[in-house]
Amino acid sequence: MSSSFSGKNILVGITGSIAVYKVCDWVRSLSKAGAQVTVVMTESAAQFVSPLTFAALSGNRVYVKMFDPVGEEDIPHINLARKNDFILVAPATAATIARMAGGLADDLLSAIVLAAKVPIIVCPAMNSNMYLHPATQANLQRLKEYGYTVVNPATGTMACGEEGPGRLPEWESVSEACLGAITAQDMTGRSILITAGPTEEPLDPVRYLSNRSSGKMGYSLARTARRRGARVTLVAGPTHLADPPDVSIVHVRTALEMYDQVICRFDDADIIVKAAAVSDFRPASTMAQKIKKQGSELQLQLAGNSDILFELGERNKTERNPKILVGFAAESQKVLEEGKRKLQEKNLDCIVVNDISADDAGFSVDTNRVTLLDRFGGVHELPLLSKDETADRIWDAVIFQAAHLS
Ligand code: CTP
Repeated sequence: MSSSFSGKNILVGITGSIAVYKVCDWVRSLSKAGAQVTVVMTESAAQFVSPLTFAALSGNRVYVKMFDPVGEEDIPHINLARKNDFILVAPATAATIARMAGGLADDLLSAIVLAAKVPIIVCPAMNSNMYLHPATQANLQRLKEYGYTVVNPATGTMACGEEGPGRLPEWESVSEACLGAITAQDMTGRSILITAGPTEEPLDPVRYLSNRSSGKMGYSLARTARRRGARVTLVAGPTHLADPPDVSIVHVRTALEMYDQVICRFDDADIIVKAAAVSDFRPASTMAQKIKKQGSELQLQLAGNSDILFELGERNKTERNPKILVGFAAESQKVLEEGKRKLQEKNLDCIVVNDISADDAGFSVDTNRVTLLDRFGGVHELPLLSKDETADRIWDAVIFQAAHLS
C-alpha cells in the first residue's frame, strides 16, 4: 500500500450492498498506510456489516444517523465534509447514486457529499440490470459532470447470480483513483505514449529471443502519468504485470508489432517515452515447426529490427509541433557516454540512463537509480528510489522541459 496515504484524512461513505464486506479490507489497508479514516454508513449498509467492524478497522467512531448525539461536533455533516482530503463512496448503490445526482441531502452521507468541496470518488456496485438502466447511467453521467470520479464497476458473476457489469471495482483501480485525488493534476490535457517491457522474437512455435526487461519502469511511468491527470496509452511487450487502471493498453509481442503500434500513434501524442527494451535483432526466419536437434551446433541467422526511437526522432525534425521524446538506455559500461551518444543520435529531448550492473537498479527489481540527460546538456542524477518515485521525478523533469519548449 502506497505511503502517499500517510497523514491523509479520508472519509469512506458506505451504502447498502452485499459488497460492503469487501470495503472492510480497503478501510484496513488505508488505516495501515497511515491515513485517518472516518466511516459514514447509511442505515442499509449497517444491515450488512455492523458499524462496530468499521470502528475496529479504522480506529475511529463510525457515523450512521444524521441526528446522533455527537458531543462537541454539533453539525456533523459540515465538519465531516470539511476535514477530509477526499471522500470515497463505496460501494455506491443505485439509490445513493440517484440521491447524489439529484442533490438530495436526506441522510448523513448524501448531506456530507452535497456540502463537500473535496474530490469525490464513487464506486458503483449493483445488479447489472440496475447498473445498465438508463436512469443509473444518466445519474452516473451527471456525477461525472459535477467533477466526481466514477470508477467503472468490474464485470463478472454477482452475488445475485447474474453476470455482467456491476461488481464492486477491484482495489487496484480504486486505490489509483484515490491516489489521483491527492496528487496535483499537473499533467491534465497531455497525451502520453509509453512503451514498456521486452519484445519477443520467435524462432519457432516454442522458442524466442528476448531480454530481461520486466516492464516495471514503463508501467510505473504509465500509472504515475495517469495519476497526474494525463491521458495515457501504453504499448507493452510481454510482461507478468497487471494492466494499469484507466490506461489504454496495447499488448504486442515483437519489435515489428511494437513499431507499427507506436508509429500509428505518433500524431496523437505530445510526449513519447520509450522505456521498452526492444530487441535489436530477430531471427531472419521463423520456423513453422519446432526446430529439431541435429548435430551439436546450430547457426542462427538474425535480421536487424528498425530502431523505433530513431525513426521517431527523424519524424520529429520535420514536425510543426515536435513531440517531447524521451529514451531509456540500460548500460553496463561507459554509462553516461553511451547515454549522451544515444540522446544525440536519436534526436531526443531527454534520456534516462541506468547502470544495470548495480543490484538495486534496472531489471526486475522495484527500485531504480537513474541519471537524466537532457538535450541542453543538463545532467540530473537521481538517488535510489522506488520505480514509482523515479517515474514521478522523470515526469517532473519532462514537464519542466515541455513548459520551456512551448
Ligand atoms: N529502441 C527502439 N527501437 C529499437 C531499439 C531501441 O525504440 N529497435 C529504443 C529503446 O526503447 C530505448 C532506446 O532506444 O529507449 C535505447 O535502447 P538501447 O537498447 O539502450 O539502445 P540501442 O540503440 O539499441 O543501442 P545498443 O543496443 O547498441 O546499446
